Amino acid sequence: MKETINELLERIYQGSREAEKVVSKHAYTTPVEYSKTLSDIAQAEVYLKLENLQKTGSFKIRGALYKMSIVKDRVRGVVTASAGNHAQGLAFASSVFGVPCKVVMPESATITKVESTRSYGAEVVLHGRIYDDAERKAIEISEETGFMLIHPFDDPEIISGQGTIALEMFSQIRDLDTVIVPVGGGGLISGISVVAKRMNPRVKIIGVEPENAPKFAISLRAGKIVEVRVKPTIADGLATKKPGNITFRIAKEMVDEVVTVSEDELARAIHFLLEKQKVLAEGAGAAGVAAILGGKVRIDGERVAVVVSGGNIDLTAIYRLIIRALANAGRLAVIKGFVPDSPGNLSEITGIIAKHRGNIIDVFHHREDLRAPAWHTALQIVFEVESEGVVERILGELRSRGYSFEKI
Ligand SMILES: Cc1ncc(COP(=O)(O)O)c(C=O)c1O
Repeated sequence: MKETINELLERIYQGSREAEKVVSKHAYTTPVEYSKTLSDIAQAEVYLKLENLQKTGSFKIRGALYKMSIVKDRVRGVVTASAGNHAQGLAFASSVFGVPCKVVMPESATITKVESTRSYGAEVVLHGRIYDDAERKAIEISEETGFMLIHPFDDPEIISGQGTIALEMFSQIRDLDTVIVPVGGGGLISGISVVAKRMNPRVKIIGVEPENAPKFAISLRAGKIVEVRVKPTIADGLATKKPGNITFRIAKEMVDEVVTVSEDELARAIHFLLEKQKVLAEGAGAAGVAAILGGKVRIDGERVAVVVSGGNIDLTAIYRLIIRALANAGRLAVIKGFVPDSPGNLSEITGIIAKHRGNIIDVFHHREDLRAPAWHTALQIVFEVESEGVVERILGELRSRGYSFEKI
């Protein structure tokens, strides 16, 4: 007979209690930090639960540790398909219990991810172009070797493990009103919501997804699981096509609202966390903060915890994101113009930018630009400014000295 929803919720909650014993032994109790800036912006009391500081850089080891602690004596090994944090979490957890682990990743997986998964002791199998190819290969390996297939989110024990975050948060923050959680396949929000509502039935649970992968928002509205077309997103950990069967069943019951955030909001949140909080989050990890900064949640007057779920982001990605966030905030300017090709002009132009405290990042000199008048050269300058209005003042002063530049 199918387990009733109440039986399932009870199983998840009791599982979280059990999981806490394993998780507290092998993972960190991550810190909670009050954010004054976010609190001021949201007119609320906002705390960040910093799972980016967790071992392996994300919350994923919680579920993996609990799952492995349960199956360790009855499996020859475990296998999964993942190019993300689940890979590292499972690799770490299986090494804790001495269980062989194979992780299948698409051939496009970054070297950093492959190497870090290997460094936790797993065997990495590179297969196929996209995640679905890797998933099929993982099933094949499981059938051939008898290794147990471990699902990244649609598994009651994985969900219970993620629920330990809520147990910690409730001992770290008094009288929580709302918890904001990033949503991929829904394992994280399922575990947190079951435990949180047990601790305080009035607590509100808000999920956040990228606009480019809104599977829970759409499925919950439709009242049934809907597969969405996923577009590329900075929050790659949340780029799942559809909710899991178990996670959807739980979310329908326990999640109050799911909101979506744009790519620019995600980029801005990563930048905000870095600049204002000194917190390094990956796109998925910053989704909750993106929802607050984007005004997507109504939390004024409330005490709120935002789960910053992971911090595994490439340095090159951070560079690109910061440039994009600065440009969006009007703090990065690109100006272009034609300048007489004679000594002294460049230094006069850069001097004007410096006078307005503009910080030059790049200067491009294009003598070969055929649109330039005779004896002129095309000049493009990229610089950082304190606020948007400064660029107009710089352009005005350049014009008054005879240089014609435009913002691009
Ligand atoms: C950093 C991060 N946050 C959130 C999630 C979403 O977790 P779930 O798939 O359990 O919803 C993931 C999933 O990989 C993740 O890596």
